[in-house]
Amino acid sequence: MNNKLLLDNLRCIPDWPKKGINFRDVTTLFKNPECIKTITDEMCEIYKDKGITKIVGIESRGFVMSSAVAIRLGAGIVLCRKPGKLPCETVQESYKKEYGTDTIEIHKDSINEDDVVLLHDDLLATGGTMKAACDLVKKFNPKKIYANFIIELVNEDLNGRAAFDKDIEISTLIQV
Ligand code: PRP
Ligand code: ADE
Repeated sequence: MNNKLLLDNLRCIPDWPKKGINFRDVTTLFKNPECIKTITDEMCEIYKDKGITKIVGIESRGFVMSSAVAIRLGAGIVLCRKPGKLPCETVQESYKKEYGTDTIEIHKDSINEDDVVLLHDDLLATGGTMKAACDLVKKFNPKKIYANFIIELVNEDLNGRAAFDKDIEISTLIQV
């Protein structure tokens, strides 16, 4: 799709959080009402007929649009969080990312076998975060898993899409 409004409004910060990383700062999209409407419209267009019942938002920048899209699609929201933030029993997964390692978790009672799940995050870099989230969700054996990102890094030789199993359908709104 590569929406021009989104491309024009996305800020890039060189050498942050460390040298060599071109940090794509999605907050410049989130602060712009036209951009959040465009992201919501485009995501809803992609997923409106898929029967999505749960949207899994990835901490923290994945939470923002998950909320808007879930309301429009009539889906529930599941929080995929960094460790120690969720109060009940969780399932965890550790993973490597572009600049370090991390762990994520979701509540054990958050998804069931009748769910059609859309996982959402702001950005696809190595794919490590979303792959770990997909692996977590697979443990619940839902009917189908989709993954969506606002931004896909295609010019950094990361090849994030290659991280995913073939049965996961991936969509991204802009490629940089
Ligand atoms: C960023 C981004 C994605 C992830 C993408 O999150 O929001 O979640 O990295 O990288 P990957 O495809 O290589 O896994 P970050 O870990 O910086 O956490 P934050 O959203 O809480 O700042
Ligand atoms: N997460 C991992 N790599 C990133 C990047 N280059 N920009 C923004 N978020 C990121």
